Amino acid sequence: MAEKHFKYVILGGGVAGGYAAREFATQGLKPGELAIISKEAVAPYERPALSKGYLFPESAARLPGFHVCVGSGGERLLPEWYKEKGIELILSTEIVKADLSSKSLRSAAGEAFKYDILIIATGSTVLKLSDFGVKDDAKNIFYLREINDADKLVEGIKAKKNGKAVVIGGGYIGLELSAALRINSMDVTMVFPEPWCMPRLFTADIAKFYEGYYANKGVKIIKGTVAVGFGSHANGEVKEVHLKDGRVLDADLVVVGVGAKPLTTLFKGQVAEEKGAIKTDGFFKTSAPDVYAVGDASTFPLKMYGELRRVEHVDHARKSAEQVVKAIKVSEEGKSIEEYDYLPYFYSRSFDLSWQFYGDNVGDAVIFGDSDPASPQHKFGSYWVNNGKIVGAFLESGTPEENKVIAKVAKVQPLVESLEKLSKEGLGFASKV
Ligand code: FDA
Ligand code: NAD
Repeated sequence: MAEKHFKYVILGGGVAGGYAAREFATQGLKPGELAIISKEAVAPYERPALSKGYLFPESAARLPGFHVCVGSGGERLLPEWYKEKGIELILSTEIVKADLSSKSLRSAAGEAFKYDILIIATGSTVLKLSDFGVKDDAKNIFYLREINDADKLVEGIKAKKNGKAVVIGGGYIGLELSAALRINSMDVTMVFPEPWCMPRLFTADIAKFYEGYYANKGVKIIKGTVAVGFGSHANGEVKEVHLKDGRVLDADLVVVGVGAKPLTTLFKGQVAEEKGAIKTDGFFKTSAPDVYAVGDASTFPLKMYGELRRVEHVDHARKSAEQVVKAIKVSEEGKSIEEYDYLPYFYSRSFDLSWQFYGDNVGDAVIFGDSDPASPQHKFGSYWVNNGKIVGAFLESGTPEENKVIAKVAKVQPLVESLEKLSKEGLGFASKV
């Protein structure tokens, strides 16, 4: 099979792949210089839609509605856009071998690709229960990462209308999917091992609000245990979930969200890794010549905190993609740009709730506002104070202006005199910064 050669290859047509393509077009690109290779069958899209609008029972989001870059208020890049720009979109093509020394990639179908510069944007894949030794092959047990997974889930929800759903995991997928299934009128039970939901970010106080709110919406929550097996019907469909504490839950459908792992296996031994992903500098350059890594697949210097971090969220995928392309383009002119200076930003939406978080969740957490789940306003937040300074800020149901204010406070890191006073002042404190 003939070998194809490109000046630039982006491996992975997800969020970072799409935003990098837009940045290449902005910076200037000759037709035929850039290819995006993706195992997905569709052009890059805003992955967060899959656990939210895509699952709505009515007026659900569908492609081409949420191709990148609509998630950040930008132009929607349809397949025609790539054609117009002379960018080759090589879809339904999984790369199964990468040889960084000869700058070549090989697909599952045997096609060979050569590049001068490679951007690794392979993202993450789901952790499976089978990775922990739990057999998960009954029908109607779903994971969610790509649009194909979402389509199967939508079919499952339709087939099991008004049925019983068990959601395994209490993180992002657990919370967003429990809400989505409940909105689809399913009888939902969430199961997770920790003492409260989203322990990666939430304090016990924050979690109390969401757990109360979900309970009021009819979601049942079982904490402190995990799924150890499944029972199935004769036709292979899941029937029940067996928990470690001995309980058995009836289930017509199961969604599992027990974490993600960066997709770096193709490059094992060829490039330095750190914290489970590919180690980069502030320009997303890896240890291998002419190879860059961005998005979920990268571990990068988080300048504000003076340490290497991995971030599994869409904002970093977008911004790292823009940074890498700018860095590549200026380096071709022998110039340089400022290194990446990222303020971590995470968000989630479920039911009529919407939160944003900026900064770092370390130190003492101080809650403020009305965090009663039964309250009609339900507006509250939390600051994290470390070494006398605010380092992180969280806000539920903030207006766009209020969200800007909490972003600023996390960036500026003002000194705090008293935690008690801070809690009383609440959002007012951030507004004055
Ligand atoms: P991403 O996963 O987007 O793209 C990787 C691409 O590479 C995929 O198309 C994949 O198929 C392809 N690929 C991988 N290996 C390949 C190979 N060997 N050959 C060819 N192609 C290959 N974040 C957030 O901040 N807010 C939110 O609300 C959400 N919501 C959300 C919902 C769901 C369902 C998921 C799964 C994730 C989120 N996220 C999120 C996280 C966010 O979507 C994620 O951090 C970014 O998509 C990461 O972007 P990347 O481009 O790094 O990977
Ligand atoms: P996560 O890391 O957010 O949560 C994993 C959760 O799984 C843990 O909190 C724990 O409750 C649970 N868990 C771990 N082991 C378990 C076990 N053996 N049995 C039962 N529960 C167990 O991961 P996720 O929710 O699966 O999300 C996957 C990826 O998608 C992540 O990268 C996440 O950032 C991303 N995502 C992000 C958003 C968002 O930012 N709004 C939304 C959806 C997905």
